Amino acid sequence: QAFCPKARTPPLVNLNVKKDVNKVVDTVDIEDITEKAVFCRCWRSKNWPYCDGAHGTHNQATNDNVGPLVITKKKD
Ligand code: FES
Repeated sequence: QAFCPKARTPPLVNLNVKKDVNKVVDTVDIEDITEKAVFCRCWRSKNWPYCDGAHGTHNQATNDNVGPLVITKKKD
């Protein structure tokens, strides 16, 4: 679904994640990240808030270029 600036209703970013709440907010304790954590930014993951690779299908279907946020633990 391409974005159309003249559309009366802008397209939704979130299609499926926690649709029963007013605002999706997730908290991850940084101490729980052992080596790295990969977080979804395309809103298509079925393992929210983590990336499950669904951005690849989304990018192919829409010609978008979104990808995850990767957080790595600093090595001592
Ligand atoms: Fe959403 Fe990978 S599944 S960024």
